[in-house]
Amino acid sequence: MQLIASIAQMQSLALALKQQGKHIAFVPTMGFLHEGHASLLREGRRRGDLLVLSIFVNPIQFGANEDLERYPRDMERDCRIAAECGVDIVFTPAAAAMYPAGFQTSISVRELTRPLCGASRPGHFDGVATVVGKLFNIVQPDLALFGTKDYQQLAVIRRMTADLSMPVTVVGMPIVREADGLAMSSRNAYLSPDERQSALCLYRAINAVRAMYTAGERSVALLLDSAQAIIRQEPAAEIDYLEFRDGETLETAATAVDGTLLAMAVKIGKTRLIDNTLLGKEL
Ligand code: PAF
Repeated sequence: MQLIASIAQMQSLALALKQQGKHIAFVPTMGFLHEGHASLLREGRRRGDLLVLSIFVNPIQFGANEDLERYPRDMERDCRIAAECGVDIVFTPAAAAMYPAGFQTSISVRELTRPLCGASRPGHFDGVATVVGKLFNIVQPDLALFGTKDYQQLAVIRRMTADLSMPVTVVGMPIVREADGLAMSSRNAYLSPDERQSALCLYRAINAVRAMYTAGERSVALLLDSAQAIIRQEPAAEIDYLEFRDGETLETAATAVDGTLLAMAVKIGKTRLIDNTLLGKEL
């Protein structure tokens, strides 16, 4: 496994490998890898001749009062997991190289970024789209893999890739959960043991809504009431948003149908967690 920090070196190697007909699979991450990332890496290993992992805590996708400084980092452990998953290249650019003085270009995906996390985190998705677009230019992937826990992020990246005719196949992979249902996230590391228990209310709400939907309930208002009630039972939890949206367009859903998205962001203490499910689809 090769570690590359230089943008120029990564890009010229990627271009040379493509010239040799190699199929590059790419997993962009901010590090502090968990089983969710490992599932992306394993799938990338299966589908690509060459597997590239990037680890870059992208400053431009964090708001002024967010957790950029304390975002968890553990390069040694990340490299161990990467090696176990068969990664060929770990790309670790420096922020100053990614955004040198004078940097002033941004990719903005308009409609899809207005609701949900886009409403709570202004500028966040411009930062994500810009870094992913830039990483695609550097790593030259044929295939890039993302988790569906960040459902809106995946929708934004798919839209950007299609709109800007980027020759990259974007693959969304299922949410990976802990044994008790908590969706895996690097930010789970912030939770105290009590908060870790409280955080299960997100999964409880998802399961309650899925059970109601399976039993025939199609009223968004009633499904919403039930999910909100479950989360409000948890004193440490504060709902940022909890919404039913069209799974493709992310427009507000009037009624629940197969493919309707239930998306939520909930603060547990100081930690903001997101989770989602598509009704009528596998969990
Ligand atoms: O999902 C993430 O870890 C990040 O948003 C991404 C896609 C690596 C961009 O910084």
